Amino acid sequence: MASQTAVAAASPNIALIKYWGNRDDALRLPANGSISMTLAGLETLIEVTFEEGRAGDSLTLNGRAAPEEVLSRVSQHLARVRELAGLRAGARIRSRSNFPSGTGLASSAAAFAALTLAAVQASGLRLEARFLSRLARRGSGSASRSIFGGFVEWHAGKSDKDSFAEPLAPGEHWGLVDLVVILSRRRKPTGSTEGHALAATSPLQAARVADAPRRLAECREALRARDFARLAAVVEHDSNLMHAVMLTSRPTLLYWSPETVRLMGAIAAWREAGMEACYTIDAGPNVHCLCAPQSAQRAARRLQSLPGVLQVLRCPAGEGARLLAAWPRLSSPG
Ligand code: DP6
Repeated sequence: MASQTAVAAASPNIALIKYWGNRDDALRLPANGSISMTLAGLETLIEVTFEEGRAGDSLTLNGRAAPEEVLSRVSQHLARVRELAGLRAGARIRSRSNFPSGTGLASSAAAFAALTLAAVQASGLRLEARFLSRLARRGSGSASRSIFGGFVEWHAGKSDKDSFAEPLAPGEHWGLVDLVVILSRRRKPTGSTEGHALAATSPLQAARVADAPRRLAECREALRARDFARLAAVVEHDSNLMHAVMLTSRPTLLYWSPETVRLMGAIAAWREAGMEACYTIDAGPNVHCLCAPQSAQRAARRLQSLPGVLQVLRCPAGEGARLLAAWPRLSSPG
């Protein structure tokens, strides 16, 4: 082998039932199962080239050298692929995203799903989707779900072998739209990985985890029946439970801004008045407004007119991680 290259694309996902806290941080075995929708329109592309004789790895993000801590997390992940493939070569990696990272938009989910697929392909391994999901999980928990498109469930499992995601329903099953409301593009001070490690310091985490099987069943059933009222109730409750754990962790984690809270109130009030919309918030101030197909346009118009809203991205359900024939040449910064 002189060099081996592969390119993959993946999208972030929005958790309808959240992953927060690990039973095993090193293996990224989550405290509870989770359910998500993979988002169309937002995309991270990654190219991995293993070069014989190359010592370390190098990484560019949108054309710029990556910070040391990002490269180190990526190298740790590549080490897992190298071990599986019996490979020693260092890798040249480039990555490009069309959405802001580190703002609670699950950028690590898209990045580690694409990185896993590209690295496995470039290494010459051929792995089935379930194995890819397990491997992506080791890089970033939520990446296990971005391997698949549409509606996806990540089974918590008890060991590396049985903690993987699988599709619940394709995107066409229900034309839900996630309106991603950008309130801030600043990088959050506490990343999800550090946040997961604090979950157990909250006295509320045990109760959140104990009730997770009920919420997962409720969410599965609401999705199956395309019952928006039922889905909205469990999605908002689950998001509030996770943020209650964050707020009561030591030290406290507060991801909301005043605008976040204002939007939570506004969206809940719109639903009271008959609009099929609900909110869910990840580890950042930005708000995801999940809408039934017929309500999405009206909700987007209203959101855009609110003070503090920088941008509203319209994301229906999208595809899982996929291989590309080559790095797209047009407008390539890398
Ligand atoms: C709040 O998957 O980003 O978005 O495994 O440490 O990379 P790491 O964490 P990550 O955590 C996601 C947390 C969340 C909820 C969710 O997506 O389920």
